Amino acid sequence: MSELSPKLAQNGTIKNIDSSSPVAETEDIDFSKLSERPRPLTMERQRSYDERSFLSELSVGMSPRLSIRNIDSYSRNIDHLDTVFSPCRRSGFNTPRSAMDFEPHPMFAEAWEGLRRSLVFFRGKPVGTIAALDNSDEELNYDQVFVRDFVPSALAFLMNGEPEIVRNFLVKTLRLQSWEKKVDRFQLGEGVMPASFKVLHDPVRNSDTLIADFGESAIGRVAPVDSGFWWIILLRAYTKSTGDSTLAELPECQKGMRLILTLCLSEGFDTFPTLLCADGCCMIDRRMGVYGYPIEIQALFFMALRCALLLLKQDDQGKEFIERIVKRLHALSYHMRSYFWLDMKQLNDIYRYKTEEYSHTAVNKFNVIPDSIPEWIFDFMPTYGGYFIGNVSPARMDFRWFCLGNCVAILSSLATPEQSTAIMDLIESRWEELVGDMPLKVCYPAIEGHEWRIVTGCDPKNTRWSYHNGGSWPVLLWLLTAACIKTGRPQIARRAIELAESRLVKDSWPEYYDGKLGRFIGKQARKFQTWSVAGYLVAKMMLEDPSHLGMISLEEDKQMKPLIKRSASWTF
Ligand code: GLC
Repeated sequence: MSELSPKLAQNGTIKNIDSSSPVAETEDIDFSKLSERPRPLTMERQRSYDERSFLSELSVGMSPRLSIRNIDSYSRNIDHLDTVFSPCRRSGFNTPRSAMDFEPHPMFAEAWEGLRRSLVFFRGKPVGTIAALDNSDEELNYDQVFVRDFVPSALAFLMNGEPEIVRNFLVKTLRLQSWEKKVDRFQLGEGVMPASFKVLHDPVRNSDTLIADFGESAIGRVAPVDSGFWWIILLRAYTKSTGDSTLAELPECQKGMRLILTLCLSEGFDTFPTLLCADGCCMIDRRMGVYGYPIEIQALFFMALRCALLLLKQDDQGKEFIERIVKRLHALSYHMRSYFWLDMKQLNDIYRYKTEEYSHTAVNKFNVIPDSIPEWIFDFMPTYGGYFIGNVSPARMDFRWFCLGNCVAILSSLATPEQSTAIMDLIESRWEELVGDMPLKVCYPAIEGHEWRIVTGCDPKNTRWSYHNGGSWPVLLWLLTAACIKTGRPQIARRAIELAESRLVKDSWPEYYDGKLGRFIGKQARKFQTWSVAGYLVAKMMLEDPSHLGMISLEEDKQMKPLIKRSASWTF
């Protein structure tokens, strides 16, 4: 796999010298400051986490742990979980937060069991959840803990009053960030967070080792730009949910955030405040024409910046970043709300655009040629409703709808309240196209024929209405539900959840569905895909107790009001 030679530095941290791909961990950094910090009283009630046990990770050669290579032996070790998590919690309720008069669907308990089965341990502590527990198919990298995949798992655990695993995950991935990362001979930025990691168990030495993938092993060598953003967003969710700010305040966490921010706030040749990315750098981690300024990354970028503002300390280093973030947020929200927003009026304006305009007075600033507007959009665009389109750059507007970006835009308040309402209106009026028989289309519509050949490079996995190309992903249910609650439209979420409940268990929690309506289990979809399970759990718990929304949602910042209104079609 790699020629890496992990070496222990004097302080016990690992330095990978001359490493090319996956890095291995043998020691932990010194988080001893944790034990020196007074913990807020509110936390004492909620946390069962023992900081001393966290520190015990420092000792090498702990008790036997699971090798996630062997799913069978992994499952056999499930009994061990009962000692970590009390049996009464296994059903996912019976905790202060989710008790109430909640009459869960039978599949709720099954989902909790599935989620617990997917836990991955490192030296006795749960540190994440495996991407899929499907041993009927080739593993590829589905036996890893993906940063983005862990987010719904983490939210489920937080909502269930079990923050330890989330904390362990945040610390573990932070440690991975500090390693030297290389793709062939090229060294990646210091702040890059891994796409995924894996725990290897050596039965002879009885020790656990971590390996991580920063894109150097990934199919297509795609860069996980979203990982760092999700990490910051999760750190804020953890802090908000537990009331424990000691983790975020650790110098290591502050530094981790600053490193991520350094990567995305650096000055360059850019003329736009959006973040320029290579293809496949997010949930859609394959060539799908999402290069440039994809909405998913812009929305996550915006949300991560807002979360960082809440988490960064006002010390000398922190202050400098805070100033840069405020400026960027200002420019980014203006740009996104103005140029990525599409509704009936805006579409009509583009349709009538003049081209080749020069100077500040240009209306068609990006020189978009009206002939490039795809036919489908004229039927798809409802009279009321709108959304953030997929991408905007010179002479290019990707009119496709992307679910994750739009939901995150609502949650982060990148979308104004009016725009948020309009997005929900669109989902309602284009229910068949966007939800169909199984929530929820990752993007709409699919690309096919010549365009598919050019855009995907003839990707047989991304054929029309499959996988990333118009496939339906159950994981997106949690994002839809959160957006529904935020916009006061829970009935939309209820409808979507009912659809999922009619299929998910029967179909063994597939990763995605295929077809225009999402009626077929995806061609190459994994079964027992953890984020399908966790997404359902989070949706259910949030709907039952909407106060959970707070950990993943940010209120509108009045100072970021758009200077111009693009359209009046949604202000009725
Ligand atoms: C696929 C998805 C990606 C996900 C991974 C693990 O590659 O495209 O978003 O993180 O599977 O589930």
